[in-house]
Amino acid sequence: MALLAAISAVGALLTILIWWYLHVPSNMPKNIPTIPFYVSSIAQFVDLGQDKIYDRWLREPLEKYGAVKFFVASQWNVLCARPEYINGLLRNDDVFVKSGNCEKIPYSVNARFLGNNIISAHGETWKLYSSIMKAGIQRRIADTGKLVKRSRQLVDSLLRAQEAVKGGSGVEPDPLLQRYAIYVAGDNFFHTDFETLEFDIATRLGKLQTAIRGHIFAPLFFSFPILDKYPNIFRNRKRAFSDVKKYEDILYEIALRPRCQSTLVNDDSKGSNTTSEERQVIDDLKDALTRGKINETQFRANVKIVFLAGHEDVQHLLSSALYVLGTRTDVQQKLRTEIQNTSITAPTPETLENMSYLSATLFELLRLYPPISQLTNRKTTFTPAVLGNDIVIPPNTYVGWTAFGVHTNKSVWGEDAREFVPERWGATVETIRNKFRRENARGAFIPFNAFSRKCLGQGFALLQMKVVLFELVRRCEWMLDTESGMQITRVGLGSSSSSS
Ligand code: HEM
Repeated sequence: MALLAAISAVGALLTILIWWYLHVPSNMPKNIPTIPFYVSSIAQFVDLGQDKIYDRWLREPLEKYGAVKFFVASQWNVLCARPEYINGLLRNDDVFVKSGNCEKIPYSVNARFLGNNIISAHGETWKLYSSIMKAGIQRRIADTGKLVKRSRQLVDSLLRAQEAVKGGSGVEPDPLLQRYAIYVAGDNFFHTDFETLEFDIATRLGKLQTAIRGHIFAPLFFSFPILDKYPNIFRNRKRAFSDVKKYEDILYEIALRPRCQSTLVNDDSKGSNTTSEERQVIDDLKDALTRGKINETQFRANVKIVFLAGHEDVQHLLSSALYVLGTRTDVQQKLRTEIQNTSITAPTPETLENMSYLSATLFELLRLYPPISQLTNRKTTFTPAVLGNDIVIPPNTYVGWTAFGVHTNKSVWGEDAREFVPERWGATVETIRNKFRRENARGAFIPFNAFSRKCLGQGFALLQMKVVLFELVRRCEWMLDTESGMQITRVGLGSSSSSS
């Protein structure tokens, strides 16, 4: 009898705890729907791509109301998909302030992984990071030589891998794409040639990164990162924290390696023949550390984010490009014709700038397969905020956007919103560029975010993608292996089992 009473008491306590944890706070806006709490983690339990999940649970309420209440990272958030709400959210930096995982879920593996970096910081800290890193990331690339070299290496290795496969089936490109993307980030942001570094560091970093993404998106821990507080109970979290530490230490060691003298010289040093073009963002970060502008924790966090932002999204976009062009061979052929019309094999930035179909294809890829498809890293301050005219959001509430949602909304992009139509961007370089700017400013096209916190690597990423697509399409014709089971994951496309 006593045992029964004890079990009932524990059961009741657990029910209250779960209710307390999952209930929607009473001050959350009442005029937008609530998405069931399990939707953000459902991909862990059923084999569904993010597009299918969006269609099944989010599309209708988001298209009707423009915003919903959505449970992610241990709390209820507001998620927006209507251009005017997204515009208001991204434009008003002081109302919806940046607040990354190190503030939202500071005890989590995710927060330990990324730290407080230039993407998540706000106010004076962000201004400091930006003043140190902006010039290095946005450095003008006048010579595409290094990018062309890496693209050729990638295409060579894809062709070699294909030759080695028996029976006409396809190759798994992702490991090669990851290696390529890491090499490019090393060349351009770290003064580091990962190809020639000992111990095959690129592979170790790539594997650790894949493992860490697996830890972050692991069932249970993704929706309830609060459990990361208890590594002694959940032993796999110990492994997760340890992988994060290993990853960070490798990057830190690489970042601090001495460079050849010319690349270490400051812009203001006398007698140097180093041009500012030779400086890379890592030089500026090291300088800031040496001069005490930032401390070691800040240095480490920003080194990690430059490495991650500098390669991961391009890698995912390239994976989407292989998939789409492998199914849309008509687009592939049209691109090939445009490339052949240039009569060159090593494109300059100017050549690429003038290739309208290449630009349109790239924007269309970013529209349907945005590598960062959804993000909830802005927070209302100590006063309520209003989205549009009528959604009143209480203080200290996280608000986010879904690029995939707004990019695929028929009332924003027309009846063919879900189809891959590069022609929608226009026929000339100018019309395409203008459409990009217009759609970005109105909150309808946000692969790189918008306004003051838009991606600093946008120009570099677009150039890199153009160079590598030029080389791929110039030298290869390919079709998707129908056995590949590719589908949209959290970050663009991947094989159905991918956890990244
Ligand atoms: C296809 C490639 C890329 C995509 C789709 C992309 C997308 C984005 C997005 C959506 C944001 C805003 C994140 C937020 O709102 O919190 C962002 C910010 C940022 N990205 Fe990228 N990115 C790409 C490539 C790069 C590259 C190559 C770099 C180079 C290091 C880079 C550096 C940054 C930085 C530093 C920020 C923070 C800007 C700030 O808040 O001041 N990105 N990116």
